[in-house]
Amino acid sequence: MKGLILSGGKGTRLRPITYTSAKQLVPVANRPVLFFGIDAMARAGIEEVGIIIAPETGGEIREAVGDGAQFGVRITYIEQDAPLGLAHAVLTAEPFLGDDAFVMYLGDNLLQGGIDELVREFEERRPDASILLTPVPDPQHFGVAELEDGRVVRLQEKPPEPRTDLALVGVYLFSPLIHDAARAIEPSARGELEITDAIQHLVDTGRRVEPHVVRGWWKDTGRLEDMLEANRLVLDTIETRVEGELVDSQVEGRVVVEPGARLERCTVRGPAVIGAGAQLTDAYIGPYTAVGEGCVVERAEVEHSILLLGSSVRGLDGRMESSLLGRNVRIGRGAAQPRAYRFMVGDNSEIGIL
Ligand code: TTP
Repeated sequence: MKGLILSGGKGTRLRPITYTSAKQLVPVANRPVLFFGIDAMARAGIEEVGIIIAPETGGEIREAVGDGAQFGVRITYIEQDAPLGLAHAVLTAEPFLGDDAFVMYLGDNLLQGGIDELVREFEERRPDASILLTPVPDPQHFGVAELEDGRVVRLQEKPPEPRTDLALVGVYLFSPLIHDAARAIEPSARGELEITDAIQHLVDTGRRVEPHVVRGWWKDTGRLEDMLEANRLVLDTIETRVEGELVDSQVEGRVVVEPGARLERCTVRGPAVIGAGAQLTDAYIGPYTAVGEGCVVERAEVEHSILLLGSSVRGLDGRMESSLLGRNVRIGRGAAQPRAYRFMVGDNSEIGIL
């Protein structure tokens, strides 16, 4: 069985972060979200993994993932010229996938329980497709499935009036029949070849599509609030490890301080991770915070936030929370007169002030 990870796409919902970087490389607990999917493949014994990349962000993904040796898999990169849908991504990968069955994993998704059991079950039962489902409170925002006698009978992409609350999780297992199904469908109203339509085509032509309701949590990190929630869920699983330097500082609860980080007169209340080389002075880091490599926090309080590589937060009166800072962002008190707010902010940024 092969693996296919989708790491192209537009990422419009995570702008401005995605103007300059792939959303799949935004870190969750200081590890790119994409890495969790590759780990899941490796743990399930999948050795050949194709990664769909977009022309704009593909280079950065290649650089971060490399040949896959760090994960114990072999990676093949497959460029998709334009984000024309999940089923279009499958067709783009057809030369790589050939006649093999495969697991498709959306590169910005996290699945708590991994995929070992799903792969094993698929190999034993050999259905034509197996889809993962989970009940959600707002099914109108997802692909939604209807079941009958343990089979999938109907799939709809973001239906205004969903008939069930069973949302499609971003992990699918397919036999090679999916390629013909993807070729048989037409683009949807939003101009994409939808994977839900391709699976519906399998159902309509009498193929066996089996549902699998997932037990653990599943998170699609496509929006800021999802990213923060994914960060919470993963930080909840970390074990304390302090390798950086603590000077008049204390860590409470589960906290990771990476080598080269220095904390002076700080309190860190976990779960939290402080990246390598970060410099924290007179700071409070609250629960569910991931401070990236080389970040600086001085005379400030930060909680429930993600700070990417090289960002700094200095001299804030109020606590910063529920925030996502991109790379090398600087937030601080200006010394220049007259006293005023001064911003240099990219398109589609959001700033909330006290
Ligand atoms: P989505 O999050 O559904 O799409 P998107 O990345 O375009 O984001 P947005 O809606 O915010 O604009 O895609 C799910 C995953 O699949 C994500 O990792 C990107 C990837 N993808 C592709 O690789 N190719 C595609 O054609 C599409 C639509 C998505």
